[in-house]
Amino acid sequence: MEWTREMRYRPYADWSAETLLKLQAQASNSPYQMGYHIRPTSGLLNDPNGFSYFNGQWHVFYQSFPFGAAHGLKSWMHLVSDDLVHWKELGLAVAPDTKYDSHGAYSGSAIALDEQLFLMYTGNHRDQNWIRHPFQLGAYMDQNGEVTKLAEPLITQPEYATDHFRDPQIFKHGEYYYIIIGAQDKATKSGKIALFRSKGLKEFTDLGYLDFTADTMGYMIECPNLVFVDEQPLLIFCPQGLDKDIVAYENIYPNMYLLGDKVRLDQAKFETSTQQIKNLDDGFDVYATQAFNAPDGKAYAISWVGLPDVSYPTDQENWANCLSQVKELSLKDGKLLQRPVNSMAELRKKGTILIPSEIVSGSQQLIAESGEQYELKLTLDTDQNGTLHLAGNDDLSQSLTLDFSTGQDAQLTVSRAHAGQQFATKFGTTRKIDLPAHQTLELEIFIDHSLCEIFINGGEHVMTLRFFADQGPKQIALTSENGPVNYRGTFWKLKSI
Ligand code: FRU
Repeated sequence: MEWTREMRYRPYADWSAETLLKLQAQASNSPYQMGYHIRPTSGLLNDPNGFSYFNGQWHVFYQSFPFGAAHGLKSWMHLVSDDLVHWKELGLAVAPDTKYDSHGAYSGSAIALDEQLFLMYTGNHRDQNWIRHPFQLGAYMDQNGEVTKLAEPLITQPEYATDHFRDPQIFKHGEYYYIIIGAQDKATKSGKIALFRSKGLKEFTDLGYLDFTADTMGYMIECPNLVFVDEQPLLIFCPQGLDKDIVAYENIYPNMYLLGDKVRLDQAKFETSTQQIKNLDDGFDVYATQAFNAPDGKAYAISWVGLPDVSYPTDQENWANCLSQVKELSLKDGKLLQRPVNSMAELRKKGTILIPSEIVSGSQQLIAESGEQYELKLTLDTDQNGTLHLAGNDDLSQSLTLDFSTGQDAQLTVSRAHAGQQFATKFGTTRKIDLPAHQTLELEIFIDHSLCEIFINGGEHVMTLRFFADQGPKQIALTSENGPVNYRGTFWKLKSI
């Protein structure tokens, strides 16, 4: 279907209830639909927004275009949770219904005040000549979930930035609120992060660009986030068009992070001794990750599993994308770890302890008949080579493969080249990471129908991806040319949320 501008920006009220019901049915009846992840009720989901803790519950919103698999007129859909795992959707919270957000209630964040949750987001407005005017807007959500928008923008486009100026993240540091905003510099057309400060959320002082790197960060930075992990500042951001000589990546747009030593926000300085900008996720499909510090100081992150300008097979079914599971961030030996939250264990059904099996045919060891909704914890011994197959068919001619070597040149390569429907192949069908030599490889794998999240060595790496396997029974198996693989592990089928 051709999405014309008129269709993308048609007011929500002009879509019929019947169309919406049909779209909802299509999304929930899809064989690829997730069972324990946040996924769109209908149409397209993109960035997580307003991730926060307020009124005794966790809150997250997502960017939504409910009327198809297109980036049309965006709004915020609201979900709440008691444990960061079981989410309940409460419906539309921020609609594109004022002159300032007439062309989309774009991404933003939230901060809990005493009795209200303060939302700050970008209102996307286009004038008669289709020129974009971004406004940074505010709204208050009360304890009943009622959202009241402020009548006037809090921040307008500064003269130093182009109209690519969006995705405010608000956080408190010391006695001030700070707001970082993704920007494109007008003079150099390069990606920047603008910094503002406020005392009472009425007046906002422009502190200029955040100084965090001497390198050029592509042509635009989307979705910047600053959180503190064990007191150390962590900057998460999406530098579109980043030169691959600065940091290598393969996805259309990267989601990067930079660990700092200290921030001096009044001087707009993010100080880092490592200078090392890294991929936040080593898989195929993570973007627009949003993180925040909970009241107890812990840092949590959640990602859009999907990418701008990439088509996914479910577009044909008129829905697209999902959110990742929530990841708890911590540091170990100066390295960032991303781990599943403890409550993920609540989803487990009875576990099966895996005892290394005999070779059943050829070089194949069967681990489990898996189904499509499970968690697999697997430890592979050192000095081995082989392939772990997920979502495999009978003869393993189709499967998601994880080639591992745990010897001298230790590596893990994920391939979706033989995992059903192919898509985004122009960005490659494999992703590879280097591993420490001669060490066991710890994998925690979560499969949710068409979503795969792999946590490696206690969260030192995460590889997240979508895959669209053919329908039919699925198995987990190991193959190796060097005889049986030594492993131990546990397998759990997981409940839906
Ligand atoms: C990132 C993004 C944001 C924008 C939102 C619109 O995926 O482009 O920059 O606010 O999506 O949906």
